[in-house]
Amino acid sequence: MKREQFSSSLGFILAAAGSAVGIGNLVAFPVMASKNGGAAFLVMYAFFVFFICLPVMLAEMSLGRHTRQNPLGAYTEIGQNRAWRTVGWLSVITPFMIGVFYLVITVWIAGYLGKAVFGQLDQLADPAGFGNFITSNELFGYLAFVVVLTFLILQGGVKKGIEKATTVLMPTLFVMLIALVIYVLTLENAMLGVKFFLIPDFTKLTGEVLNGALAQAFFSLSLAMGILITYGSYIQKHDNIVSAGKTVAGLSLMVACCSGLLILPAVFSFNPEIEISELSTSSIGMIFMFLPKIFLALQADIGYFGASFVAAFFFLLVFFAAMTSLVSIIEVPVASVMDGKGISRRKALYLLGSVMVALAIVSALSFGRVDWLSNMLSYGGANKSFFDLIYDMFYETILPLNGLLLCLFVIYRWKKQNLDAEISDGNQRFAGSFLQKYVNFSLGTFIPLILAIIFINTVSTIYF
Ligand code: PHE
Repeated sequence: MKREQFSSSLGFILAAAGSAVGIGNLVAFPVMASKNGGAAFLVMYAFFVFFICLPVMLAEMSLGRHTRQNPLGAYTEIGQNRAWRTVGWLSVITPFMIGVFYLVITVWIAGYLGKAVFGQLDQLADPAGFGNFITSNELFGYLAFVVVLTFLILQGGVKKGIEKATTVLMPTLFVMLIALVIYVLTLENAMLGVKFFLIPDFTKLTGEVLNGALAQAFFSLSLAMGILITYGSYIQKHDNIVSAGKTVAGLSLMVACCSGLLILPAVFSFNPEIEISELSTSSIGMIFMFLPKIFLALQADIGYFGASFVAAFFFLLVFFAAMTSLVSIIEVPVASVMDGKGISRRKALYLLGSVMVALAIVSALSFGRVDWLSNMLSYGGANKSFFDLIYDMFYETILPLNGLLLCLFVIYRWKKQNLDAEISDGNQRFAGSFLQKYVNFSLGTFIPLILAIIFINTVSTIYF
């Protein structure tokens, strides 16, 4: 059977940007940046995106386009031995498990959207409310909704599913984001938030912050999850990989910055005092409690309907971003099963979808509802739930390891010349350019080294 393809380079760029732009850019990034040095963080983050992440991105896309395979197939075909095949497996299992974790979070977002639409955000604005919501039965309704939607998109295949969905959702998302930024910037006190987000403080850039920033940049560009290998296997031979990579990286960065200009001014305008202190200790869970508060504060100004409308608009935007990322990560195991077992897309979806949904349900039950799932293991001084285990193991630990192995694989197994030839196809100027030398050198030396340091750092802080 002929492999499916994106219909154009733009289709690929929007799909890859859809994958990159997600909860990480919209929610995690603004908080991280404002806590850790504002513009100083931003500059460093941008540097990481272009000098460390971009080469890895180009490597993944080329590997996919060259082999026309999913990650397992690509590692097997070029690696030619059992060790690389094992790495291939890792590159399929990891997205599958991160997909479970991301599915759970997407379901929360869908829930928030639902609550905003029905004007019930007040139920979520405190720790008890949020805790109740993520362990409620209602959540299963939202799970069903997200699963059906994901299934419908992926069932359509590359062109009629993924590409079609992202070419509608991404431009809509950009427009919505800009509209919200403009609206928020007109509010009273908004400039305080802009200052808080942007005033540089280089003293905040500690080793730990650098470590976190790079891990975040990596996650945010969907690297080391096999996604760009898989999407890369659907692009046409003469598409320009370099400009696609730069565009995706730039879009992802822009969305992250816009989100900073949205969330922080909103915070300051609605409730300067309390919120800053809350923000500085925030984790993902905290942010989920915190966002509804912003919208509730808005009621005082524009009334109940106005506030619900703005809230629904915002959560719809986040929901679109989450859906396009979720779709991309599930496509990896789906493509692997289709290629490997020679079965249809629909069958692969049923097969993987059912295991994934089961694991997502187990995760949902592990937030206090079922005791042994909520306290499965204890390490690093904390009790860990099933959900925490998936997060720690796959997202925190294996992701940098996978990235490291990918760099070594591309440069030392597949070889530089092959990488160069693949990138040059569609971009004649690449051969002999500074970029080419930089990509070759960095991927073979300091990028894997930095990833190794992140890996060791994370392992030592999480598990000990
Ligand atoms: N880029 C996504 C984000 O920022 C991360 C991600 C991509 C997660 C794809 C899962 C799948 O949220």
